[in-house]
Amino acid sequence: MIEKATTTIPTVTADQLAKLRQLMPHVFGENGKLDFDKFQACLGNQLDSQPERFNFSWAGKQQAIKLLQIPSRATLVPAIAESVNYDTTHNLFIEGDNLEVLKLLFKSYFEQVKMIYLDPPYNTGNDFVYPDNYQDPLEIYLKLSGQMDSQGNLLTSNSNSSGRFHSAWLSMMYPRLLFARQLLRDDGVIFISIDDNEAANLRLLMNEIFGEENFIATIIWERAYSPVNLKKHFSESHDYIFCYAKNLDNLSCNGLLRDDEATERYKNPDNDARGVWKSTDLSVGPVVANKIYEIITPTGRVVLPPEGRCWIYTKQRFEEMLADNRIWFGETGNNVPSVKKFLSEVKNVVTPMTIWKYSEVGHSQDAAQKLKALFEGKSFFNYPKSVELIKRMLQLYTDEKSIVLDLFAGSCTTAQAVLELNREDGGHRQFICVQLPEPCPLSSEAFKAGYGTVAEVGKERIRRVIKRMTTADPELPQVSPHDTAMDMGFRVFKLVASHFKQWHMSPEITPTAYIDQMALFIDPLIEGWQVEPVIYELALKEGYPLTSKFTIAPHQHHLIYQVSHPDGESKFHVCLDERVDLKLIAELGLGEGDIFICRDQAIDDTMATNIALQCHLKVL
Ligand SMILES: C[S@@+](CC[C@H](N)C(=O)[O-])C[C@H]1O[C@@H](n2cnc3c(N)ncnc32)[C@H](O)[C@@H]1O
Repeated sequence: MIEKATTTIPTVTADQLAKLRQLMPHVFGENGKLDFDKFQACLGNQLDSQPERFNFSWAGKQQAIKLLQIPSRATLVPAIAESVNYDTTHNLFIEGDNLEVLKLLFKSYFEQVKMIYLDPPYNTGNDFVYPDNYQDPLEIYLKLSGQMDSQGNLLTSNSNSSGRFHSAWLSMMYPRLLFARQLLRDDGVIFISIDDNEAANLRLLMNEIFGEENFIATIIWERAYSPVNLKKHFSESHDYIFCYAKNLDNLSCNGLLRDDEATERYKNPDNDARGVWKSTDLSVGPVVANKIYEIITPTGRVVLPPEGRCWIYTKQRFEEMLADNRIWFGETGNNVPSVKKFLSEVKNVVTPMTIWKYSEVGHSQDAAQKLKALFEGKSFFNYPKSVELIKRMLQLYTDEKSIVLDLFAGSCTTAQAVLELNREDGGHRQFICVQLPEPCPLSSEAFKAGYGTVAEVGKERIRRVIKRMTTADPELPQVSPHDTAMDMGFRVFKLVASHFKQWHMSPEITPTAYIDQMALFIDPLIEGWQVEPVIYELALKEGYPLTSKFTIAPHQHHLIYQVSHPDGESKFHVCLDERVDLKLIAELGLGEGDIFICRDQAIDDTMATNIALQCHLKVL
């Protein structure tokens, strides 16, 4: 079989249309486009056409939706020197604008991610909100990643005096959330941090994208432990964390391991041989008629359930419980009866509550101090989240093999939480952290220490955490750097312009301009292309994850690259040489079903036919 190699990645819209086409081929016209009239006719009264209906909108929403349809013109290239244990690790740090990155990951990571944590800019008026460019999304990234003013500040921030203050933020979040949802597994979950600046808008946005029926909880994180007395009215001491499921029916919660505090509530005042217990209410509401009866305490007092309630047991069951010494009337034998709940009989997990106190998951200042300690007392990043906070999210919803994605990674707290939890419970969770190379201000300690961008700080943090775990640290159980069971590494990738030429065709193009464009495509690779980036780009476009194995071997004077899926189930070969020799195919031992990619100009028609008889040939 001969096929054109894939040099683009489908957009969300293209992917959704393809699925719709599978379900309803009859609503598509001859030109392959959706025929809306037919679609409407088929759905009949299922379409909501009422003039007044609930609708959440803002200035620029339509443009934000259009961003989804613009295919990425970028690719990801590895930065091996900045990575740790590149060849063996499954963790990823990707430097770039998260929307472009999401577009590139879409094919390879579709429905692969178990948990997403997002900590976007809160839109305070002073923070940087990415200014998407609707005409040329990549251009703005390439400019921004090298652009700062003389103070080292980014030239763009969303000031609250701007007439489109909330709209700009919503337009930034909307396409990212839509893409992020596509990467979640059906039993996946997303946590997103926010404060009062955008909490109300974000809730509506999440309802629209994830569905109100998939809302799980709003968690309050007690992020501060003392008031800021300069505040005029209240000193806010909490953040919100919204938690949504991709599909609530398929998501289950691991619960939280019972902590010491919960265990301490169990005592044994009557020296029961079954061990410590705590008393729980014997009454319940509403009333069930056959569960109202008199109970006589050991002191002879007659007790009835409180008004509007009944006992939890029938009289017969109560008698059995009493005989088994499971009813407690207090030290004096005169109290209202309660039920003895034995620690040995309860599950070791508790259902999480929605207020997460700093005493349990740390506070902001504590997180900043710990990060400072990791960087020898220097403050390289303001307001990191607490590692314990993210660890709790991981504990609740991930399993030992989960992929965890953070699209606004900042100083990479999520990466540290994943590494630490894996070490604690022997898990193999993988992280994918995406972070913009947002410049650190020239006056910042980070910049002075040589970390020019937040991405540099994030990568260095991961390296230091790994180093601390693999070298003696009195506070931590040590992990050997050669311990193959633990993934102590990460691959770094960077967003750059694609190495494939892009089709620039305006609707008014003249025949000559058209011929010129066509000429460009005789060789689809850009001038100055390099082999490795092209191989990685092909892998992404073939739907291979960035953790795939890339090997290179000389064969018959050719350089052959083999890309193997990390699960070992599939692989393909690429040769980007000017000419390809037929003997090569024989030597590689490629058979039917094996994919071989080479440049169109490297083989003539007869060779192409011959190769295609032996394997699955794709040409560039
Ligand atoms: C609130 S901070 C995240 C802090 C992080 N949770 C931590 O604990 O360190 C948000 C980060 O998102 C980054 N960011 C903003 N827009 C982005 C974009 N379009 N792509 C990738 N990162 C972005 C910012 O540079 C900033 O570092």
